[in-house]
Amino acid sequence: AQAQQTVKIGLILPMTGPFAGAIGRQIEAAAKLYMAQNGASVAGKTIELIIKDDTGTPDVTRRIAQELLVNDKVSFLAGFGLTPLAFAVAPLATQSKTPQIVMAAGTSSITEQSPFIVRTSFTLPQVTIGIADWASKNGIKKAMTLVADYGPGLDAEKSFKERLTAAGGEITGEIRIPLRNPDFSPFLQRVTDAKPDALFVFVPSGLGVQFMKQFVERGLDKSGIRLIATGDVTDDESLDSMGDVTLGLVTTHHYSAAHPSPENKAFVEAFRKAANVRPNFMAVGGWDGMHLIYQALKKTNGDTDGTKLVEAMKGMSWVSPRGPISIDPKTRDIIQNVYVRKVEKVNGELYNVEFSTFEAVPDPVKAAK
Ligand code: DHB
Repeated sequence: AQAQQTVKIGLILPMTGPFAGAIGRQIEAAAKLYMAQNGASVAGKTIELIIKDDTGTPDVTRRIAQELLVNDKVSFLAGFGLTPLAFAVAPLATQSKTPQIVMAAGTSSITEQSPFIVRTSFTLPQVTIGIADWASKNGIKKAMTLVADYGPGLDAEKSFKERLTAAGGEITGEIRIPLRNPDFSPFLQRVTDAKPDALFVFVPSGLGVQFMKQFVERGLDKSGIRLIATGDVTDDESLDSMGDVTLGLVTTHHYSAAHPSPENKAFVEAFRKAANVRPNFMAVGGWDGMHLIYQALKKTNGDTDGTKLVEAMKGMSWVSPRGPISIDPKTRDIIQNVYVRKVEKVNGELYNVEFSTFEAVPDPVKAAK
């Protein structure tokens, strides 16, 4: 018998540096778990996963992607832990007609950088409008925003402002903090002095711990200023280590490890067994990215033509551990539920417990175009 042909997936992740724990290791573990559970063979082809560390640096991501395309002849580029890393590779995906599966990054415009980009993570506008709506309905009139100063932060700031002001609210201050080595303290002093009803925060996965620490050090937990955020701040990877100060914190996001579905219970249990930690939303983006690749190959009968694969992905839908999801055939972006959650203690551990749902939310920025 002839040996099966191999289809290679190049998975590029920050496996070292500040985003290794919350992003790289989570997605790596999820991708490996997916293959362990579903087999390393699909549509008569052997699947080979090649994992590379880009350290979270765009120039490195681009160089690695180039090597994976030229030397390894990968059929898929996947991963992209941060927005600039996804942007760096988009021109290569277009030139080489290779599907680029964005499993992590969340700036709305990413999918517009190449017709070969398909996203299984989320967009910041998608998850931010829900918390703005929740804030308006819960008596928050004056709010300040504090975001990491790059793509997803600017998206979150803009969406929150538009949505809150449309409902009659007011933004009384907008603070942007650097992504690298952020020090929140001086900015938190400004918030204390301004005394808004609420502070809305976006920082990427992994930075929430430091934010919460400085929030408490500055006494903001006792200031009467309500903290609200996207679920990036209460990321499952680190939430339990943030301590009881997070109890009651309301956020909106697309995934919680406490999501009460049979699919999620099975996912969390298997992930914990394999990786010894709780899966976060990055892990789910990686899991669904692998599912998307497997299903696309099934649909093309193992054909690795990039254009055919992307066509196969458009409109695909399935039940993820996060709930029902689909790929918008027009934008190649994900459509998914967004949940309103509150931090609670469950069996002695802190979790984002979902209490209401916005169903089948598209990326609102592209939906408005
Ligand atoms: C991005 C990264 C994150 O870790 C996150 O939580 C949200 C967005 C990004 O760079 O796009």
